Amino acid sequence: MDKLRIVGGRPLQGEVRVSGAKNAALPILCASLLTGDPITLENVPDLRDIGTTLALLGRMGVQIDRQAGGRVTLCAADINRQEAPYELVKTMRASILVLGPLLARFGQARVSLPGGCAIGQRPVDQHIKGLAAMDAEIRIEHGFVVAGAERLRGASILTDMVTVTGTENLLMAATLAHGTTVLENAACEPEVVDLANLLIAMGADIEGHGTDRIVIQGVERLHGATHRIIPDRIEAGTFLCAVAATGGEITLQGAAPGTMGATLDKLREAGMKIACGPNWIRASMHGRPHATGCRTSEYPGFPTDMQAQIMALNTLASGTAVITENIFENRYMHVQELQRMGADIEIDGHTAVVTGVESLSGATVMATDLRASASLVIAGLAAQGETTVERIYHLDRGYERMEAKLQALGARIHRIQ
Ligand code: EPU
Repeated sequence: MDKLRIVGGRPLQGEVRVSGAKNAALPILCASLLTGDPITLENVPDLRDIGTTLALLGRMGVQIDRQAGGRVTLCAADINRQEAPYELVKTMRASILVLGPLLARFGQARVSLPGGCAIGQRPVDQHIKGLAAMDAEIRIEHGFVVAGAERLRGASILTDMVTVTGTENLLMAATLAHGTTVLENAACEPEVVDLANLLIAMGADIEGHGTDRIVIQGVERLHGATHRIIPDRIEAGTFLCAVAATGGEITLQGAAPGTMGATLDKLREAGMKIACGPNWIRASMHGRPHATGCRTSEYPGFPTDMQAQIMALNTLASGTAVITENIFENRYMHVQELQRMGADIEIDGHTAVVTGVESLSGATVMATDLRASASLVIAGLAAQGETTVERIYHLDRGYERMEAKLQALGARIHRIQ
């Protein structure tokens, strides 16, 4: 298993290009199942989760042409299998995103239930409830969601909580349903908007994306389209946190600062100087960060996917920060590892109280999930001495060439195979 070895204590300096957003690309790849025409995507990041999704779609019969530079063309003209097997779903929960498109276009789907997850229970009951409201017959059989419908019918669906992939699954399903679907309490995340924009380019009739009420008029068929994936706001935020922790200066090219308001606000509170253009961010940090607490919430609130990284920053801040995780019940797996590096963190339920220390000391630490891994890399970059981050396959799921990008900023970081 690969590890990262980091020698910390060096300020980061330079320019980084932000990759396409993982969490936009995953549903968008699955949306290719909605038509027999080719879908061409640009700015698709080169990540393990993308590889898993392409393998899943390939098994179903989707023809895939993956070119250098993040261009992928998919054609779902000949689908021979409407199934997502356990061995793929268990490695990537986002595989559940094939359920809506398969059911909408083929009237049947068999998708393994994801099971437990490192950051929380993460059930998919809302996906199922929504599809059932659209007249799908759904049963759980041998660990699979088995769904069938002659044709889905538009429905008014109010999810019990805001769910990102739940909204995406129902949105995709509704595009080919008979009649009007109204999604209430819908997720407003930029990744949902990006998916809706692709679907509209494919001929879907959608209004209200980006708000909590999305209205979809079903159409008879969708057609091919070309679409560019939005920049990854979490990758960009992770690099900014790294620079805020080590000091230095960074320019992010190909970023979307308009989707990063809550993260940029927190980093400014921490003392970072930030300037933005339409697709770039320039940020510098001198001196010790100030403590900056946050409460994670749905977009446009502070993203749960940035919680671990902002915590790593706070471990070195002057003062005490209170961080509350409101989205997932078990997303503090990085805390024990940060404590091993000398961080002062107390957990009480969903709240972490982080009292900044003067310095962290390098240690061997274990990555437990994607964003936890990112927080350990940030801590390692800022710590004194050497840090080894083990099990970085988690990191490879969601960060494209992270160590190469950090090396370009002057970080002493190497992959050990
Ligand atoms: N929930 C349910 N039932 C459902 C769906 C969700 O109880 O049917 C609960 C979840 O357990 C959670 C909350 O609702 O407590 C919100 O979960 P959501 O469904 O929004 O999460 P998700 O769609 O599974 C996506 C991202 C996550 C990100 C969350 C929250 C993708 C592929 N994944 O997950 O990304 O943390 O939204 O913003 O889009 C990551 O990239 O590291 C990552 C985990």
